[in-house]
Amino acid sequence: MPGPGRAGRRGGGARRPKWFARGGRGATRTQVGIIGAGPAGLTLALLLQRHGIDAVVLESRSRQEIETTLRAGVLEQATVDLMGELGVAERMMRQAQFHGGIEIRFGGRGHRIDFVRLTGGRRIALYAQHEVIKDFVAALLERGGRIEFSVSGVALRDLDGAHPRLSYRAEGGAREIDCDFIAGCDGFHGPSRAAIPEPARTEHGQVLPFSWLGILAQAPLSSPELCYTHSDRGFALLSTRSPEIQRMYIQVDPDDDVAAWPDARIWEELRARTAVGDGGWRLIEGPVVQKGIVDMRAFVCDPMRYGPLFLLGDAAHIVPPTGAKGLNLAVADAQTLAAGLAAHYGSGGDGLLGRYSEICLRRAWRAVRFSMFMTRLLHRDPAHGPMERRVQLAELDYLTSSEAAMASLAENYVGLPLQW
Ligand code: FAD
Ligand code: DHB
Repeated sequence: MPGPGRAGRRGGGARRPKWFARGGRGATRTQVGIIGAGPAGLTLALLLQRHGIDAVVLESRSRQEIETTLRAGVLEQATVDLMGELGVAERMMRQAQFHGGIEIRFGGRGHRIDFVRLTGGRRIALYAQHEVIKDFVAALLERGGRIEFSVSGVALRDLDGAHPRLSYRAEGGAREIDCDFIAGCDGFHGPSRAAIPEPARTEHGQVLPFSWLGILAQAPLSSPELCYTHSDRGFALLSTRSPEIQRMYIQVDPDDDVAAWPDARIWEELRARTAVGDGGWRLIEGPVVQKGIVDMRAFVCDPMRYGPLFLLGDAAHIVPPTGAKGLNLAVADAQTLAAGLAAHYGSGGDGLLGRYSEICLRRAWRAVRFSMFMTRLLHRDPAHGPMERRVQLAELDYLTSSEAAMASLAENYVGLPLQW
C-alpha cells in the first residue's frame, strides 16, 4: 500500500478560506472530494462542514431518487446521538420509534432480548434510511454545502501522483475537481474501490444462499418491537416504519422473482412463519404498497485506504442485513475519517488518518461476524440437514436463556462503541 503519509504531506495544514476555490489547470478544487450522497458521504460532508473543511459531493442519481429509495430502518443509539450533535435530529426525534429490545421467535414462542437492561440503557431507533437522507441533504444545502446531483462518468485520476482529482460529466459538460483527498462513498457498485490497483487490495466475499423479499404494508403494528423469527419454512422479520406502515421481510431463494410472490402468498408465508403456539397472537395484514428482493452477501475490502483515497461504507464492506449494521457502519467510517481529516488540517497530525483503515476494518469485521451469526442463527440453509437444524435450535435455546449470550447479542445490536 502506498505510504499513508503521502497525501497527508500534500494537505500542508493550511485551512482554505472557502471550499470551492479555483485550482490549477483550469480545474476547480476542494479539500475533500466525496463520491456518493448515501449515509457515508452525507455524514462525512456534514462533519467536515462543521470542522470548516471544504468538500463537494458528487452523486450520480437525482435528489428525488436518493430521497425515495427504500433501504435500512434501524439506527443505533450512537447514530441517533451523532444526528443530535450535527443538529439534524429534529424530525427523527419526532417521527422515529424507539425500541428498548427485540423479540426472537422460534418453535412457536417469543423471547424478548431487553437491550435497555442488558446494555445500561441503550436503545435503537426505527427511522427509514431515505428519511435520514432527506434530513442530511436539507441540512447540508441549507448550511451552504455543495452536492452535485445526477452527475455521470465519475473517474478517480492520479491517485499515485501529485494531483489527485475527480473528473465527471454534469449539465454543461465535462468537469474536473482537484482534491487533497477523495472519499469513496459510492456504495458496493461505485468506481472508488476499483480505482485501487488490484495488487494493492484484497477482497473477501461470500454470497449467501438466500435472499430477502421485503414489503411495506399499510397496517397497524402486529408486534411492539422488531420480531426476528426462525421457522422450518425459513426466516421472517417484522419491522416497522410508523404506527401505520409496517416493513416485513421473508427469506426467499436467491433466484426467486417478485412476480412469483403475489400478496396472498406473502401473507400466507408470513402468517405461517410467525405463528405462535398458543394462538394468542395474530399478524395484522393490510395492503402491500411496495415489494422487492435483495440478495445477501458479506464483503470486505482490505485496505480501506490507498494514498489520498479513503473508502467508506458499502464501497468497502457489505454485511448481511440480519444484524441491521450497514448504515451504522457507514456512519462510523465517516466519523473516523472526519476526525482524521480534522486532525490533519488542524494541529493533530496524521496519526489517525494513518490508522483509518485499521480502525474501520476492525469494526467492519466485528459487524460481519455479528451479522453472519444472526444470519446463520435464523435462516434455513438449503444445504443443512436435520443435524444442523437441531444444532441451530440448541443455539437459539442457549441464546434466549443465557444472560451472557443475551448480553452479547444486545451489545452488538445496539452498536459497539467507536474506538480509535
Ligand atoms: P449507499 O447508501 O449505497 O450510497 C452510495 C451512493 O453513491 C448512492 O447514492 C449512489 O447513487 C452513489 N453512487 C454510486 N455510484 C456512483 C458514481 N459512479 N458516481 C456518483 N455517485 C455514485 N443498514 C442498517 O444499518 N440498518 C438496517 O436496518 C439495514 N437494513 C437494510 C435493509 C435492506 C433491505 C438493505 C438492502 C440494506 C440495509 N442496510 C441496513 C444497509 C444499508 O442500507 C447500507 O449499508 C447503507 O446504505 C450504506 O451506505 P453508503 O453511504 O455506504 O452507500
Ligand atoms: C430492518 C432491516 C434490517 O436489516 C433489520 O435487521 C431490521 C430492520 C428494517 O428495514 O426495518
